[in-house]
Amino acid sequence: MRKILINGNKRLEGEVQISGAKNAALAILAATILVPGKITIRNVPNLLDVITFIRVLRALGIRAEYSGSQPNTVEVWNDNVKHVAPYELVTKMRASFFVIGPILARKGLAKIPLPGGCAIGSRPVNLHIKGLEVLGATVKMEHGFVIVSASKLKGGKVYLDFPSVGATESIMMAATLAEGETIIENAAQEPEIVDLANFLNKAGGRVSGAGTEEIRIRGVTQLSPLEYKIIADRIEAGTYMTAAAITKGDVLVKGIQPEFIEATTRKLQEAGVKIQIKNDEVRVSAINGLRATDIKTMPYPGFPTDMQSQFTSLLCLARGTSVVTETVFENRFMHVPELNRMGAEIKLEGQSAIVNGVGVLSSAPVKVSDLRAGAALIVAGLAARGETTIEDRDHHIERGYENLKGKLSGLGADIKLL
Ligand code: UD1
Repeated sequence: MRKILINGNKRLEGEVQISGAKNAALAILAATILVPGKITIRNVPNLLDVITFIRVLRALGIRAEYSGSQPNTVEVWNDNVKHVAPYELVTKMRASFFVIGPILARKGLAKIPLPGGCAIGSRPVNLHIKGLEVLGATVKMEHGFVIVSASKLKGGKVYLDFPSVGATESIMMAATLAEGETIIENAAQEPEIVDLANFLNKAGGRVSGAGTEEIRIRGVTQLSPLEYKIIADRIEAGTYMTAAAITKGDVLVKGIQPEFIEATTRKLQEAGVKIQIKNDEVRVSAINGLRATDIKTMPYPGFPTDMQSQFTSLLCLARGTSVVTETVFENRFMHVPELNRMGAEIKLEGQSAIVNGVGVLSSAPVKVSDLRAGAALIVAGLAARGETTIEDRDHHIERGYENLKGKLSGLGADIKLL
């Protein structure tokens, strides 16, 4: 789809089932490179990013496909792995760079193009490289490729200057087949890191401390085939919660781990939204008006950068002035000029957006620059008066939201895809 039309100003009501976590699926697909034999992964969302990653695995000589008989299941048969990842695919999606650690661990050599991805800053890979160097790899840059080699990886102590999700994952995967113990200090603590650790451990790896700032990995000589079910997508859940709140709706968000979305839940409560949590469900209702609140993005367990843009849309309709500060990425306010086209009053000052609440948003033609900016425009379009046309030429939204039209229509939204 290249265009989404939303006839807004309709209250969302009903239930929505959350899909598997995109970011966990991508990390775990990368980790299949470490495991010889057949691997079955369940609860994999059917998304463009996952399809791109499956293509990366195939280009590496691995058989990988969505199961024909079981929904949201990907099967991987991994007998032989090539060491060169294709330029066209890796530059399309940053997460495909994460194959560098497992290919190096499995083959002793990996040649991976420098990545692409969302247009949200320069997004370097120095921390991935630093970690692999500590494990004994030699690193060269040639013609846009990173070439890493090591006859045998050896455990070591890696301190990450920033708790990068991708770097923590690359190093964890490489260290799983290294000799001896690796310690990652100042590691990322995101739930997707814990899910990757659980996958590796179920395959016979020895990872402890995932979900804290110090992860220890004891190397093993080989991993074994397995079946694994990935966790729910906390960002998809947060997006539907925000959509419910901005439309003054009443929505039951199902199939999630509520403890993983605590920062989003708390901020919605601060904005005047009623939240009721029961087991794996969260009910979001927003009968009273929204209040301004400040947010600052941080690594987990802080407020997720991947929820910043959707929350900015919500704050456009909150009474008072909110300050949204982005500390994780350097250029993640591309949705702001588009929201202003819809009648929002947002001023950018360095790494902060000053949001003055307005009474209404009105429809306008707007453009998507990256995945979560697209989600922000959908959230805004759901509340805006009139028909908003969201142009998404590069299919960013399909990268991260499974069955968007079906799920939103099921909640009473008027949405068309062209
Ligand atoms: C992952 C998520 C993405 C999310 C982000 C932060 C996946 C597939 N994507 O991306 O949705 O927005 O975490 O929660 O899981 N950095 C460096 N050097 C590096 C690596 C990162 O300086 O080697 C910087 C980045 O430029 C950025 C910050 O660290 O400013 C966070 O990036 P990181 O946590 O690595 O994000 P990703 O793993 O790419």
